[in-house]
Amino acid sequence: MDVFETAYRRAAVYRSGVANRQVRSQRSYCEMQTQFAAPLPETGSPDCAVIDELADIGEPGLMQITHPRFFGWVMGASSAVSVAADWLASAWGQNAAMHASSPTAAVVEETAAGWLLDILDLPREAAVGFVSGATIGSFTALAAARGALLRQQGWDCEAQGLFGAPEIHVFVGDDVHTSVLSALRYLGFGDQRIIRVETDMQGKMSASDLSRQCASCCGPKLIIAQAGQINTGAFDPFSKLADIARNNGAWLHVDGAFGLWARADPNLRSLTEGIELADSWVVDGHKWLQVPFDSGYAIVRDADALRKAMTISASYLPLQEQGDRAPSYLVPELSRRARGLPTWAALKSLGRSGVIEMVSRHCALARQIAQDADATPGIQVMNDVVLNQVILRFGEDQDGPDKRKAFATAVIDLLVQEGTIFVSGAAWRGERVMRISVISGETTMKDASIATDAIRRAWERVSASPPLNLAAAQ
Ligand SMILES: Cc1ncc(COP(=O)(O)O)c(C=O)c1O
Repeated sequence: MDVFETAYRRAAVYRSGVANRQVRSQRSYCEMQTQFAAPLPETGSPDCAVIDELADIGEPGLMQITHPRFFGWVMGASSAVSVAADWLASAWGQNAAMHASSPTAAVVEETAAGWLLDILDLPREAAVGFVSGATIGSFTALAAARGALLRQQGWDCEAQGLFGAPEIHVFVGDDVHTSVLSALRYLGFGDQRIIRVETDMQGKMSASDLSRQCASCCGPKLIIAQAGQINTGAFDPFSKLADIARNNGAWLHVDGAFGLWARADPNLRSLTEGIELADSWVVDGHKWLQVPFDSGYAIVRDADALRKAMTISASYLPLQEQGDRAPSYLVPELSRRARGLPTWAALKSLGRSGVIEMVSRHCALARQIAQDADATPGIQVMNDVVLNQVILRFGEDQDGPDKRKAFATAVIDLLVQEGTIFVSGAAWRGERVMRISVISGETTMKDASIATDAIRRAWERVSASPPLNLAAAQ
């Protein structure tokens, strides 16, 4: 069992020192390719040496996603307790496919599913599938939607497939997350058939445009809304969208990969008003709940529709009649890890109050970063900071978009290189912006002020000696 101790030691040393490291990885992808380039070993190696070698060679290429000043993309930091539970899930070697293959995994999932519905205050009768993330969560929930909508038309999609089926009209906001489009593609809804609905400057779907576009289509309809736009954190107007869905007999799905957690916090809950009227939702554990990757939840009000879309059964698999919640009837996979364990541990460790404290702290820090950045000449906050996302523009109106783009790129590069914080970029409303996502469990006010100081310093340097590529941009 020395190998477990070796892994534990390496992990503990890494995690306890992570906050003192530069946030960016020390080696690039190409450098790591050279490090790991080796032919298949003809003979084996001792287990502890294998783990030590993996850690020795691998650590310099690690991005410090668990660092409290990692603000890149939208990624949670994985809390120690949920990592430990994840280790148990692997060490116990449980297959969460069936009640019979692991009673513990099945029941822990069931308990965690109930806790998720409670804290997110979603219909308690909904089924919860433990999936690998929001992309597959949307795939799973939308498969249930597709089956249910076609059944209403007298078409059994699970038996007959899609060829010759009535057309389902799919509506998404113009600022939909790209993963939803992937999920739709996997389900046979081609990109070009999807109907895009106007959004406002924050990326919020226009209810009036949705209503108008729904009125011009006959047949089954699927509307996909979002809680937490990837750049701005904006929430769609769910109550209005739910009315439109009801009037059109449509299925309403919500991508709430990170934003759905706002519902847990009484001070943010109003952002999600009406969301409970939807038919399905997706939310990640590996973002705001700080569960290790891969963890997402596909939540579907009509449990039977989800079961019809997902059930895997065969004579060699024991029927799962003990209670309603058969794990492999709710997700695309058969064999899989006991994903419920780290979720259970995260919720047990934080409790409702811990989740509320974390979500509200992150949102307060995002507001503070935005306020400080906005007070700096030449930096402009581009979004209403309603959640944990802040996007910044660098440069004045008279500089023009190309020059501002070069400024933003240079500031982001400088910050990443310096390594005090990690931020990423995006295109938003014709601008190149810096994205700051506050979602790492242990981020504090001190980290927020270190971040704003670093951003200010980087901007001062870039504006004092403009980047070389600025000439090309002018
Ligand atoms: C709004 C939104 N939806 C979906 C996704 C995809 O989630 P995952 O990477 O867990 O599949 C993300 C990821 O950042 C997201 O922010």
